[in-house]
Amino acid sequence: NVLGIDLGTGSVKVTAVNKLGDIVGQESTSYPNPQPQPGWSEQNPNDWVNGTIAAIRKLVNDDNVDPVSISGASFSGQMHGLVLLDKNNHVIRPAILWNDTRTTKQRKEIEDKLGKRFVEITGNQPLEGFTITKLLWVKENEPENWAKVKTFLLPKDYLRFKMTGNIAVDFSDATGTTLLDIHDNKWSLEICQVLGIPEKILPPLIQSIDYAGNVIPDFADEADMSTITKVYGGAADNSAGAVGAGIMSPNNALVSVGTSGVVLHHEVDLSTDYGGRLQMEDHSIPNTYYSMGVTLAAGDSLTWYKNTFVPDEDFTEMTDEAGNSPIGANGLLFTPYIAGERMPHADSQIRGSFVGIDRTQVRRDFTRAVMEGITFSLKDILTIYDEIGATIDHVTSIGGGAKSAVWTQIQADIFDKPVTTLKNEQGPGIGAAMIAAVGLGWFTGFPACADQFIKFGKTYEPIQANADKYAKLFKIYQQIYPQTKKIS
Ligand code: XUL
Repeated sequence: NVLGIDLGTGSVKVTAVNKLGDIVGQESTSYPNPQPQPGWSEQNPNDWVNGTIAAIRKLVNDDNVDPVSISGASFSGQMHGLVLLDKNNHVIRPAILWNDTRTTKQRKEIEDKLGKRFVEITGNQPLEGFTITKLLWVKENEPENWAKVKTFLLPKDYLRFKMTGNIAVDFSDATGTTLLDIHDNKWSLEICQVLGIPEKILPPLIQSIDYAGNVIPDFADEADMSTITKVYGGAADNSAGAVGAGIMSPNNALVSVGTSGVVLHHEVDLSTDYGGRLQMEDHSIPNTYYSMGVTLAAGDSLTWYKNTFVPDEDFTEMTDEAGNSPIGANGLLFTPYIAGERMPHADSQIRGSFVGIDRTQVRRDFTRAVMEGITFSLKDILTIYDEIGATIDHVTSIGGGAKSAVWTQIQADIFDKPVTTLKNEQGPGIGAAMIAAVGLGWFTGFPACADQFIKFGKTYEPIQANADKYAKLFKIYQQIYPQTKKIS
């Protein structure tokens, strides 16, 4: 067996998969995500470690996964989060997460000092979500913590360190710091110099499929594991999600609705210049890349809406009910900017809205408007691909949007493209398990592993009459951002 450890923002989910790609056990643990001030988002890195230990113990003791049968383990990690370690490798302060937008001042400083050069080096803009702005924030606002920094890690790299005792960051998460020169895969000393980031705090780099050590006795004892288990580098969650959904060719895009929402495109090389309008990242498949656009609050918007207005029903009841509201939710539109937005509007200050409230509308219309609004924000990202030239004629959908037939049809109609789901879809955890399987040498590479591990589900074709209505509504949706921007 292999373990895919999916370290998310809401929970950690550990999936045990056998050589045939069958899931033999799965457990998860949730942990808090404190937001001490508006726009802030933090987590205690040791909650990730303890949550993973608890999930693995359950897997071994309740699901009867024999520890000695676990040959390998790897990770899918929430991206960009900053974990700072002191000289004893202890965590200095809570991790500052990907959806924390406190760093607008630092973003501007980087833009002023490096301008276009920053995008040339990293393939990305220095947006609030990315680790580099978080490093500068600590440097400027918490000098006493900054003075203690020996090195920094990304979330799943901290977990790997606790499992193996070895410190490293994998390339797919390293590009997400925007401190890596994406062209030669080395930390950019130019950026470090200009921004006053000491080179000595830069962690060593590894590939996703690299062996990173065996599980150490302390961790094995606590998690009821064996030290026989080999641990592999692992990947940024969106990279692992793409691998687990079989996105390995350029005409197929991944749409993923987790806390954030993502449209992702496989890139065989760096020849397409998105000019920072989309993110460009190293992939877990060696020598390849992926581009993506991220909407900050996708699943997060629906969870917020449910907790606030529909607390007594489960997600399935709530989203099924939205199927009884017509296309366009009886005239109601929603923009999902409840935590600011990243793409296409890199704007941490904007907030969401309901537009067109009418006294004839009922709850199912509001639910549908939220589902449609999240999907319009993903369509906004697909539009960038249309403009820059990638031909995407098919979408594979994972996460929340794929769990509800109503929502997947909304996706097919709004994108005006066929949307395929996966059978028994488990999110990026399967990609993490595949990384371990390839690392162990079970397969010659990712395509062979995908043939064995990935099982496709249903394809939802767009219904033309619906697609036409949505095309008109999308134009109105797109006007809400500039209008609400004026009053924000
Ligand atoms: C990607 C991003 C999010 C997180 C979610 O750039 O910020 O998708 O990876 O875990």
